[in-house]
Amino acid sequence: MTMRPTSTPSGLDGIPAVDTALSHVDGARGELIIAGERVGHLAATSSFEGVTARLWTAATGQPIGEAEVRAALGDARERTFQRLPVLTYATQGLSIVDGVRAAIAALRAEHGMSHEAAIVGAIPVIVGALVRQASGTQAVAPNPRLGHAADTLAMLHGRAPSPEHAAALDAYFVTVCDHGMNASTFTARVIASTQADLFCVVTGAYCALTGPLHGGAPEPVLEMLDAIGSRDRIKPWIDAALARKERLMGFGHRVYRVRDPRADVLKRAIERLSLGIDGLPFAGEVEAYAREALKRKNPDRPLDTNVEFFTAILLDALKIPRQAFTPIFATARVAGWTAHAREQQRTGRLIRPSSVYVGMMPK
Ligand code: ACO
Repeated sequence: MTMRPTSTPSGLDGIPAVDTALSHVDGARGELIIAGERVGHLAATSSFEGVTARLWTAATGQPIGEAEVRAALGDARERTFQRLPVLTYATQGLSIVDGVRAAIAALRAEHGMSHEAAIVGAIPVIVGALVRQASGTQAVAPNPRLGHAADTLAMLHGRAPSPEHAAALDAYFVTVCDHGMNASTFTARVIASTQADLFCVVTGAYCALTGPLHGGAPEPVLEMLDAIGSRDRIKPWIDAALARKERLMGFGHRVYRVRDPRADVLKRAIERLSLGIDGLPFAGEVEAYAREALKRKNPDRPLDTNVEFFTAILLDALKIPRQAFTPIFATARVAGWTAHAREQQRTGRLIRPSSVYVGMMPK
């Protein structure tokens, strides 16, 4: 028997998998364009409904406006609330992250509503209900007159948020709604390419998002900040973690070779919160030293702050429990998943790559 050498690029680095009009990540320049606009501009000028309308329009070629998306999502939130007992039936005893997976899998087509609106509208209702279930409180009915981000906070906290808090979560939703061929979006496109329906697409994409190398990082970011604890421990803690070959959560990215542009957008959103964030200066010092230490450790592999670092601080400031950070990320990213699924089904073929066999060969 003989073995064959492999030539496959590990992790498919730098291999374009699809053509897309939805988003463009320029890792060398630190630039993210979503459906024709830079992320910083969108976060300052657009709502989640507005950017979702852009994505769905670009994906399907059928123009849809912000007001239409807003109405459809409000309707979907209300219909989801009516079905909550069925959707949360299989979530008993599960963590919030796992409960959301089970509830998404139980979604179904709603009469007179597009599948994408039914799914995007459903997720914050499910997340709100599971967060409140975990703290022993009743689910709160959605308010379709509120924006999607404001209503997400209202369903989590049981009261309408301040305009500043609603704007901060809206800026977060816009910032993370789509991001090129990340792992969960690629998963979505693979499933969509088989012509499976959008409910299957989003269940699979959500599962891919939950891993700590993708959307599961913000909770560990807060755990890291908690573990460091005080300014005098920043250097020794980070040096010791790197010496143990641990990864610093919220740093590094497969594509960006400079600072993730979304990190700056979120940092600005945090700074706009008038309450001020007690932990922000401390987090800033951790960030500064972590970047320095990572540069020393891997001088040839630029490792800079990624979106998850400031996501953790922003969501914590909005009093979202850390166990719900990944589901809240999904609440926004589902706009991208549904758009990519539609684009794939409209313009793509079955995704079926090949593999390089490196096992034994018969004599
Ligand atoms: N801390 C310390 N070292 C790191 C980090 C980090 N955060 N990220 C990469 N490295 C090191 C690796 O250990 C490796 O070092 P080595 O060559 O000495 O073994 C080198 O940098 C290259 O790492 P790769 O694994 O090739 O980087 P990859 O592109 O596969 O990983 C990833 C990207 C997964 C994001 C990585 O940087 C990481 O694990 N970061 C921490 C988790 C995180 O923040 N995840 C959120 C990502 S953003 C998002 O998905 C929305």
